[in-house]
Amino acid sequence: MVKNPYQPINAQIVDIIDESPTIKSFVIEPEEAISFKTGQFVELTLPGEGEAPFTPSSSPNQTAQMEITIMKAGHVTNLLHACQKGQPVGIRGPYGNGYPVDMFAGKEIYIVGGGVGLAPIRSLLLTLISRIKDYKRVVCRFGAKTPEDFIYKETLFGQWQNIDGLEIKLTVDNANGKWKGNIGVVTTILKSDDVNIQNAVAIVCGPPIMMKFATFDLVKQGFKPEDIYLSMEKNMSCGIGKCGHCMVGKYYVCKDGPVLTLKQLKEYPDIWD
Ligand SMILES: Cc1cc2nc3c(=O)[nH]c(=O)nc-3n(C[C@H](O)[C@H](O)[C@H](O)COP(=O)(O)OP(=O)(O)OC[C@H]3O[C@@H](n4cnc5c(N)ncnc54)[C@H](O)[C@@H]3O)c2cc1C
Ligand code: FES
Repeated sequence: MVKNPYQPINAQIVDIIDESPTIKSFVIEPEEAISFKTGQFVELTLPGEGEAPFTPSSSPNQTAQMEITIMKAGHVTNLLHACQKGQPVGIRGPYGNGYPVDMFAGKEIYIVGGGVGLAPIRSLLLTLISRIKDYKRVVCRFGAKTPEDFIYKETLFGQWQNIDGLEIKLTVDNANGKWKGNIGVVTTILKSDDVNIQNAVAIVCGPPIMMKFATFDLVKQGFKPEDIYLSMEKNMSCGIGKCGHCMVGKYYVCKDGPVLTLKQLKEYPDIWD
């Protein structure tokens, strides 16, 4: 019998972590292990309510449970935020391409992120950290509205600050008394000597406005469009290249992406809409 591609795997929320005032991480245990590549996405179903696409924030090396970090944005995400441990959910996927981490070997990796964009980046970082010697250096520049809005605070301010080969700098739009770091949008901490641009790839993930201005800066600094990888979050429906909801030019973001290079996208005027 042909498997229905829209049929989710039954799963359960087994833990919920408050990350920020508007973001929670959900630890989800599917009935069967789900393998994925970092940067791919899944469709998470809340039975009777609907589904929405999310990129797992956990390591792909962990298949029995998957972590998904979700910002309140509308119908499904508000209801998910109201769920308790034990809530049945469904997962279909993984879908899309993910980050080409093998192609990054020997290079410096420059990661620019903000807000809930740190969710896919966390999965990517866990992958890169597990084989950190394969890369020249991993340099991260992350922003949030306020210090409270950073997600994964414990690892971001703790463990990840002490890994050889990984360098993280943070900024906030608005600080409070305790904040000792930079104040300003993320582009204020992007410097042309942060990495050796000739041997680097850049990865950008976050709200569209942040991605737009960070990408402009990277191009100005001399990054080639083929070396800038963008995680595109277009409105999706089917997730499997059938409905056309997610199209940017000739690309189905759900199938050809969600990770696309600026070289692929730059001829289309509306990529940040
Ligand atoms: C590949 C991919 C990966 C994603 N990963 C994450 C993630 O890890 N964590 C996370 O919190 N969010 C992620 N998103 C965004 C998430 O899918 C939307 O926030 C969610 O679909 C909103 O559903 P809703 O029913 O709560 O909102 P709705 O009630 O459907 O809509 C509320 C508002 O959100 C907008 N919206 C709906 N879908 C999207 C979308 N796909 N992208 C942006 N805005 C949207 C609508 O236009 C509307 O303005 C991802 C989106 C994509 C396409
Ligand atoms: S979401 Fe349907 S084609 Fe991409």
